[in-house]
Amino acid sequence: MRQDFRRTIRVALDERAYDIHVGEGLIAGLGALVRSRFGQRRAFVVTDEPVAGHWLEPVRAALESEGLAVSHLVIPGGEANKSFERLREIVNWLLDQRVDRRGLVIALGGGIVGDIAGFAAAVTLRGLDYVQVPTTLLAQVDSSVGGKTAVNTPHGKNLVGSFHQPGLVVIDTRVLDTLPAREVRCGYAEVVKYGLIRDHRFFDWLEANGPKVLAGDAAARLHAIVTSCSVKAEIVAGDEREEGRRALLNLGHTFGHALEAAAGFDGTLLHGEAVAVGMELALGLSHRLGLCPGQDLERARRHLAASGFATRIADIPGAGSWDAAGLIAHMRHDKKVRDGRMRFVLSRGIGDAFVTADVDEAVVADCLARSLGVPEPA
Ligand code: GLY
Repeated sequence: MRQDFRRTIRVALDERAYDIHVGEGLIAGLGALVRSRFGQRRAFVVTDEPVAGHWLEPVRAALESEGLAVSHLVIPGGEANKSFERLREIVNWLLDQRVDRRGLVIALGGGIVGDIAGFAAAVTLRGLDYVQVPTTLLAQVDSSVGGKTAVNTPHGKNLVGSFHQPGLVVIDTRVLDTLPAREVRCGYAEVVKYGLIRDHRFFDWLEANGPKVLAGDAAARLHAIVTSCSVKAEIVAGDEREEGRRALLNLGHTFGHALEAAAGFDGTLLHGEAVAVGMELALGLSHRLGLCPGQDLERARRHLAASGFATRIADIPGAGSWDAAGLIAHMRHDKKVRDGRMRFVLSRGIGDAFVTADVDEAVVADCLARSLGVPEPA
C-alpha cells in the first residue's frame, strides 16, 4: 500500500502565522497552494542556475496552471551571491518589472537564494509577501523556516538582513533526488542539530536511521524533515526575533561561521560541514567545562563521523594555516555577542542545549587549539 508522504506544520506567529507543507511531488501542486493562501497574484520567481535547470519550468507550469502570471530571474549559484550587489540586482529587477505591493516573490533554491530573495522581498516597496520553495535539505530543515533573511559582508556572514516571515513554505522532498550527496550531507548536519539541542529521542532515531535519510529513503527523509521543521516551528513561534531560546538553533554555528570565514567562502568548506565541526567543538567545550557527559560527546562525534563529516578542524582542507586567535577574532563578529562578550550555545548532554556568556575565553582557545591539532605543551 502506498504511504501518504505529506504533512503540514503550522508556524504559530499570530498574524504572521504560516504553514509548512512537506511531501513528495508538492511542486506540481504549488500553484494551488499559492492560490489558496494568497489568491490571484503576480509571481516573481528568483532562483539560481543549478536549480533553474531542474525546477524552474515545473514551478512556472504549476503557477501558470492556476492562472498566476510568472516572471523569473536566474542568478548565479554560490555563497558569493549573498552580496549587496546581488541584492541590488534583484530589487532593481523587481522594480523594472513594475512590481506592486501585491507582487509575490517565490524563492526557489537553497539557503542562499532563500536568504537573498527573502531579503529583497523584505525591503522592496517596504515589504512584499514571499514563498519559500527550498531545494536543498539544509534549506528545507532550517533556513526556509523562521524568516531570517540576509546578505554577507566582509565582516562576516548574515550581518545585514531582517526578520521577514514567508507566507508559505512548500517542501517537495523529491527535489532532493537531484541534489549532490555532499549537499544532502550538509543539510543532515542541521537535522542532527535538532536532536542535539532538544530531542534526545530524535537523536536515538538518527543514530539508527541516519544512513537511510542520507540514502534518500522516502519515509525516513520525511520523518527527519517533519521532525526538524516541527522543532524549529515551535522554537520560532516562541521567540521570533531571537531574544532568547531561538539562539539554541545556532548550536555549532558560532564556531562554524568562524571556520567558514577562515576558509574564505570558496566552496572548500560548506556551511553544513562547518556546522558539524562546530557542533563537535560546542559539545567538546561543554565537556571541558564539566557540563556534557563524555559518553554524549562521544556519541555525537561518532554519529557525525559515521555520517561522513570531519569532526576536527585539522581535517578541514586548508586548515593548516589557521590558528585559534584568528578563529576567535572571526567569532567576535557573531550576532550573539552582547556588550563585547561572546555567548555560546553549550550542552548538558544530547537533547539539552542552553545559551551562556559565562565561558572563559582561554578554554575556548584551548579547545580550538586541540581541534587544530596543535601539540600539547610537554
Ligand atoms: N538558522 C537559525 C535560525 O533560523 O534561527
